[in-house]
Amino acid sequence: MERSDPAYKGQAGYNRFMLAIYDPFVLGFMTRAVWKVPTSDVIERYRTHMGRRHLDVGPGTAYCIAKAAPPPGTAITLLDANPKVLAHCSRRLAAMSPTSVEADVMKPLPIEGRFDSAALNFVLHCLPGPQSHKAVAVRNVAAVLEPHGVLFGGTVLGLTEQHTRPARAVLRAFNRQGAFDNREDTADGLRAILEDSFEDVTVDVVGSTALFTARRPRTLATL
Ligand SMILES: C[S@@+](CC[C@H](N)C(=O)[O-])C[C@H]1O[C@@H](n2cnc3c(N)ncnc32)[C@H](O)[C@@H]1O
Repeated sequence: MERSDPAYKGQAGYNRFMLAIYDPFVLGFMTRAVWKVPTSDVIERYRTHMGRRHLDVGPGTAYCIAKAAPPPGTAITLLDANPKVLAHCSRRLAAMSPTSVEADVMKPLPIEGRFDSAALNFVLHCLPGPQSHKAVAVRNVAAVLEPHGVLFGGTVLGLTEQHTRPARAVLRAFNRQGAFDNREDTADGLRAILEDSFEDVTVDVVGSTALFTARRPRTLATL
């Protein structure tokens, strides 16, 4: 991705060092202690929603997929703008023989075929705001789901929502640094961008985050 791309900063930080500390620091500490979401709940959502053909957008270290341990025969496609992420996840999930696609979720996805499930887990807060602009990413994923397909995931909410003091401080710091662009993101705004592309949407606020599922993608004909 070009440095000048508005989405550049949201994916640029995932270098070897970050990927090495991601599981213990981000998922083991930040998610639980700062954002106040039990990682076990996130994994359980993977177990519940992953279908036979699964697309994971922004897999990070592929921790959630590895822990969810999908049944043999699950076809997994990993999509990320950062090639280091894809290399790391492909190694970790080698036994599942995943397909890797280097692409920006803000652009139409260069993908053939359709998926039974897609995850957009802790990715939306990294995408360039305002939140209404992130509807493009949801639309791009909806376009590659089967009519019965489900999109699920979570995102950290912006400063107008309820947070602990440490969470608020971290949010401000990450937005200043550029890894997050979610100052104005709200649970209602999330519901709106999901409903733009799906007929059946659930959004649950948990700690500093919103966890969501979206079903019945609207086809171009119904948009
Ligand atoms: C916070 S990590 C989430 C990792 C993982 N899904 C999890 O829940 O632990 C964000 C991921 O989204 C990817 N990402 C950020 N911006 C992206 C974009 N515009 N297109 C595709 N991937 C992007 C990053 O490279 C990274 O893998």
